[in-house]
Amino acid sequence: MNKKIIFFVIGVAVALALLIQLVPYGRNHSNPPVMQEPNWDSQTTRDLAKRACFDCHSNETVWPWYSNIAPVSWLVQRDTMEGRSKLNFSEWVNGSEQLRETDEIYEVIQEGEMPPPFYLPLHPEANLTEAEKQTLIKGLQNTLQ
Ligand code: HEC
Repeated sequence: MNKKIIFFVIGVAVALALLIQLVPYGRNHSNPPVMQEPNWDSQTTRDLAKRACFDCHSNETVWPWYSNIAPVSWLVQRDTMEGRSKLNFSEWVNGSEQLRETDEIYEVIQEGEMPPPFYLPLHPEANLTEAEKQTLIKGLQNTLQ
């Protein structure tokens, strides 16, 4: 291929990568105040939930450096806002009623849907062992009842 074309293509790619950084979405890395947590049955349950769930289901999200770089920032923002809207351990007043009616929270842990598999390579601490999963499920059951 012609060298000029290669340079042009690389130039366009770099320009695009820089341009998308200007999109305002994905920069609002706010952690609203913690309103009310569930009445945890034990510190262990909270620790496990913190390790595996809090980044997307609490107001104590840890925003890593790459969460500032588009397009990753867009995905992280969307997951966190969507996750918090479904279940927020920091705003338990809203989350509790809805969850008591279903077994969904236990099922998603049991079946490995939560935390989402794509999240694990960069967050090995969230990758719970089988025993830890069972401890978390039991602990959540005791906490929510
Ligand atoms: C990387 C972000 C992330 C992590 C970590 C995470 N979740 Fe989620 N979770 C989401 C998102 C996004 C949704 C909403 C979309 C969906 O239902 O798939 C969600 C939805 C849910 C729902 C509602 C399911 C539904 O269909 O309404 C439950 C319950 C849940 N998560 C539990 C957990 C538990 C428990 C943990 C920890 C063991 C956890 N999640 C960890 C992102 C996350």
